[in-house]
Amino acid sequence: MTTQTPFIFHAENIKKAEKYIQKYPAGQERSALKALLDLAQRQEDAEGQKGWLSNAKIEYIADFLKMPVVKVYEVASFYTMFNLKPIGKHHIKLCGTVPCCLLGFEEVLNTFENELNIKVGQTTPDNTFTLDEVECLGACVNGPVVQIGDDYFEDLNVESTTRIINTLKDGKPIKPGSYKQNIK
Ligand code: FES
Repeated sequence: MTTQTPFIFHAENIKKAEKYIQKYPAGQERSALKALLDLAQRQEDAEGQKGWLSNAKIEYIADFLKMPVVKVYEVASFYTMFNLKPIGKHHIKLCGTVPCCLLGFEEVLNTFENELNIKVGQTTPDNTFTLDEVECLGACVNGPVVQIGDDYFEDLNVESTTRIINTLKDGKPIKPGSYKQNIK
């Protein structure tokens, strides 16, 4: 896949994009930018790839909102919810902000790195896992917190983290939420 693989919204996403835009007053359509970038990131492109924003997607959104490409890029590159390069099937984001650090972030990070044999910022060779460190995920009281896809996994330790990794490796569904108590 190239970063220029053609992209346009399919009909359903055009309707959703127009709905998002209508939430803002005339002249403020650009306020819908993050919502439209999220839509674009989730939609497969012409090669069936999704989960990141190619140049083609960024240029399409800029054109859709009639704004400079560089402004769209500025927003897309600021927020860790947007990916500017391909990611693995499971995108793992570890919160590395102070409260999570005090609650055991490092041992959770080490577990991911050792079990997946990759470092932060890397993707496994089979494109199954991408590991990233992010700022506060807003669930500090239940640290250490990890986001995988759209779900949060909280109160993690070495044992629960290992269990989550093995479940994902087995291709089975994992239960999001707190892992303070053992889950079935
Ligand atoms: S510090 Fe980790 S969720 Fe806030």
